[in-house]
Amino acid sequence: KKSVRDVDVAGKRVFVRVDFNVPVENGAITDDTRIVETLPTIKYLVERGAKVILASHMGRPKGQVVEELRLNLQAKRLSELLGGKPVAKADELIGESVKAQIAGMKDGDILLLENVRFHPGEEKNDPELAKALAELADLYVNDAFGAAHRAHASTEGIAHHLPAVSGLLMEKELEVLGKALNNPDRPFTAIIGGSKVKDKIDVINKMIEIADNIIIGGGLSYTFFKAQGVEIGKSLLDESKLDAVLGFMQKAKELGKNFRLPVDIVITDEFSANAKTKVVDIMNEGIPADHEGIDIGPKTREIYADIIKNSKLVVWNGPMGVFEIEPFSHGTRAIAEACAATSAYTVIGGGDSAAAVEKFGLKDKMDHISTGGGASLEFMEGKKLPGVEALNDK
Ligand code: 3PG
Repeated sequence: KKSVRDVDVAGKRVFVRVDFNVPVENGAITDDTRIVETLPTIKYLVERGAKVILASHMGRPKGQVVEELRLNLQAKRLSELLGGKPVAKADELIGESVKAQIAGMKDGDILLLENVRFHPGEEKNDPELAKALAELADLYVNDAFGAAHRAHASTEGIAHHLPAVSGLLMEKELEVLGKALNNPDRPFTAIIGGSKVKDKIDVINKMIEIADNIIIGGGLSYTFFKAQGVEIGKSLLDESKLDAVLGFMQKAKELGKNFRLPVDIVITDEFSANAKTKVVDIMNEGIPADHEGIDIGPKTREIYADIIKNSKLVVWNGPMGVFEIEPFSHGTRAIAEACAATSAYTVIGGGDSAAAVEKFGLKDKMDHISTGGGASLEFMEGKKLPGVEALNDK
């Protein structure tokens, strides 16, 4: 795909779709990674004298104006990150007032439009809205990797009305994740955790095909044990996926892959920060009826850390346990530490795994932390992302 580097931007009105959908608590941004990661693109455009028109979604306001979901906090933070450079904020997405604001922009100015999802046409990919957005600019740059799996007016529709290229963050994400998917350094280890089998089914399937080691943890692993006739007590279970997980184990075996499930599990009968925990040898002991599995055990941590150590590429998606609660966090921490210590290239799929790495203070030790949760998952499933597909080819 063409990138912003392949086109002339000087003096142009450039519509840049970013993903400023950041976590906010009590009126403050708690993690500004997504804003920080778009700085290279924004600076690139500013330095070359483009008029930078930014647009993003925030939350899921469903086509209505929700005051708390305005992008004012993002505009302020962006300005701070740019050393105090003014970032104008529009209170609308389209319309006369926005047009007037844009007409008044000088080369190198930045304007952030209002939350695209306040408009009912955004998520419907309404062609009228896509056209109206395109009319604001001369060039479209998509830097919102985190929203690239959505075919919305500002991520997909607009690209059909303007020259459309990727931003530098989008380009970097596609390069790193694309290499993992298509041309990985080996041994390639995929770590897949998280709570639900149904959310990870496609990525597990794909990873069995392309990775050398597939290591499983988190709430989704109990369905694998249940399917093999092991008692799992009150652990998470996805009844409808019992056959599917057995199929995965069979497929991995046929392809000669190193497919690993936890050998020991931390269990508890109380879901709290003061909970007492025990460790069970899962295949031999199972989990008692009044207990639930909550984390991978110490033996498993050692085995997994060893595999990670001996890899050349590691892609991690999903925690090993309920890492937000201290007594249940050790497995996820061990994986994060193994990823930090290995000489392998480490890719952290966004969402929960990124949050875990951040929580354990190991963010700087990873090679790539994706800004996409759903988007990086769909990408690693081998799916085409509509926001990427709509961009111009080189
Ligand atoms: C994300 O946080 O994964 C992206 O910003 C997409 O948000 P969405 O799931 O509401 O489309």
